[in-house]
Amino acid sequence: MLFKLFLWFLLAVRPGAGYFNLFLSQAEVRKLMGLEAELFYVREGVINQYAIKFVVPVPAQVHKLHFTWENLAGRPLPYTMSVDISNPSALSSSLNISQAGEIPVGGLQTWALALHCGPYDAEVDLALRINVSLSSRNTTSVDFRRKKICLKDKSGYPGPEEVLVAASGSTSGGQVFYAAIGCACAFIAAICVLVVAYYVRDKKARRHRDPLQESRGLSSACSVERGTGVGPAQTFLSPETPPPLSAASTSSYRRLDDRPSRELHERIQEITVQRCRVRLLSIEMEGTFGKVYRGSYHEEGATSSTDVLVKTAAEHASQSQVALLLREGLALYGLSHPALLPVLGVSIEDRGAPFLLYPHTGYRNMKRFLLRCKLSSERPPRALTTQEVVEMALQAAKGVQYLHRKRLVHRDLAARNCVVDDDLRVQITDNALARDLFPQDYHCLGDNENRPIKWLAIESIVNKTFTTASDVWAFGVLLWELTTLAQQPYVEVDPFEMASYLRDGYRLAQPINCPDELFAVMAYCWAMSADERPTFSQLIVCLQEFHTQLTRYV
Ligand SMILES: *[C@@H]1O[C@H](CO)[C@@H](O)[C@H](O)[C@H]1NC(C)=O
Ligand SMILES: *[C@@H]1O[C@H](CO)[C@@H](O)[C@H](O)[C@H]1NC(C)=O
Ligand SMILES: *[C@@H]1O[C@H](CO)[C@@H](O)[C@H](O)[C@H]1NC(C)=O
Repeated sequence: MLFKLFLWFLLAVRPGAGYFNLFLSQAEVRKLMGLEAELFYVREGVINQYAIKFVVPVPAQVHKLHFTWENLAGRPLPYTMSVDISNPSALSSSLNISQAGEIPVGGLQTWALALHCGPYDAEVDLALRINVSLSSRNTTSVDFRRKKICLKDKSGYPGPEEVLVAASGSTSGGQVFYAAIGCACAFIAAICVLVVAYYVRDKKARRHRDPLQESRGLSSACSVERGTGVGPAQTFLSPETPPPLSAASTSSYRRLDDRPSRELHERIQEITVQRCRVRLLSIEMEGTFGKVYRGSYHEEGATSSTDVLVKTAAEHASQSQVALLLREGLALYGLSHPALLPVLGVSIEDRGAPFLLYPHTGYRNMKRFLLRCKLSSERPPRALTTQEVVEMALQAAKGVQYLHRKRLVHRDLAARNCVVDDDLRVQITDNALARDLFPQDYHCLGDNENRPIKWLAIESIVNKTFTTASDVWAFGVLLWELTTLAQQPYVEVDPFEMASYLRDGYRLAQPINCPDELFAVMAYCWAMSADERPTFSQLIVCLQEFHTQLTRYV
């Protein structure tokens, strides 16, 4: 199953007239991406467009990039090359072949681009441009893009990217740790394969009665009305405010919700809170039509108030946006699991914007948390170890497993829809307001439906089907987000091309310093056929195994 994934390096090239090959050797691919494959950028004169687009991160410990080319033309081919560096004071480079010359006939030639980091920590983009003249009027141009990570003092405190593989508590014993993991690796991979193989058989037997093959049809209008007027924090609670959203009464969401409207109506009544009992303290996050506040809620009869998070729509939000907020906000209502954050209360009074209340126990949005880990250069960075990543993933997996047992499909698992506290306790939330707060994560494919395309399983993109197996796919992307500290997935790929990109066998690449075992788990989640993907119960077994191995050697 895993081999399928590696195929993508070898696809997308057609045999052509045959002028030259340009590729990375297996040793080079292993060094940069941790995979066992050669990576052809140009095969017989034809450029592998997918591979070219990919910005390869160059880890801090790698100082030389090797390229291999092969002249197939039977005569010397003239080339020119140049290197472009985004920040020349942080990085310089040198080639061990001349910038203009000829690709020699006969045999392979390997050459190297050496990278010399400057005196400070940086992430530097570089582009290597090569022109090869096939004839006087036919030139092939290849553009390689790399992101070099420079760490000033590699022996000292490791940067956030590096920390990912270090065991907690170890700052210098990285080599030893690697060796230990190496031994554990094969064993765990074998276990995972066995579990998955067993499971596929088991699942096939009962797939035909999986009641979760539902499509709850929670779509949202794509065209978010962009407004500018954003009222002061208090306005929506004040009774003097004119009722801008008075039309957002129960009737509007009844129409849009597919659940029996009576049931939803009852839910809302059960948890309706009085507006005057909520006090807003500070803005936590802000989007175009929605906001998230920290606040406090004083329950009737209670002696003290509790901290809450308040999700609300702005006054200029449209009815459909409000309806969506409520519908999505109530998705997890009534559930109880340590790894889920269900809504605590709701208000849809006619006067003022509707809002949703969540218990607030010192957590933060996980995507923001990860980004902050990545960007923290001034203070000691909050290092995430592989062990911590696995622990966080395990909690999230247990939350989703519980959802699936309750016959619910989340449909939008992602770091943005999780929260995490200082003790790295993870809870999964609903996706109310996520489109508004993380607009870059959602795309419309010309159908007026704003969807998290890059987190979706292929069948969800193509057929809009959502099942427990599509949640598994998204969980794989969530794992990838955890190990990359919330990089944007497939940043190079046009959302419109995602379906064919995935169909061609391409997947997210193994993040720098992501252990093979963890990447294997992700890879299983991205099996083309839903039947081949593991369930959350199996994912938990795999992650637990890996976690045991990690802690055994600490
Ligand atoms: C240049 O060479 C390529 C590779 O064989 C060929 O497909 C293409 O048609 C040529 N273009 C021109 C303008 O001659
Ligand atoms: C490659 O060719 C293009 C135009 O064909 C030119 O603009 C560019 O400067 C060339 N690059 C190098 C490295 O020679
Ligand atoms: C460039 O350096 C690499 C080692 O870093 C070596 O393998 C290769 O043969 C060199 N190429 C040339 C053309 O000198």
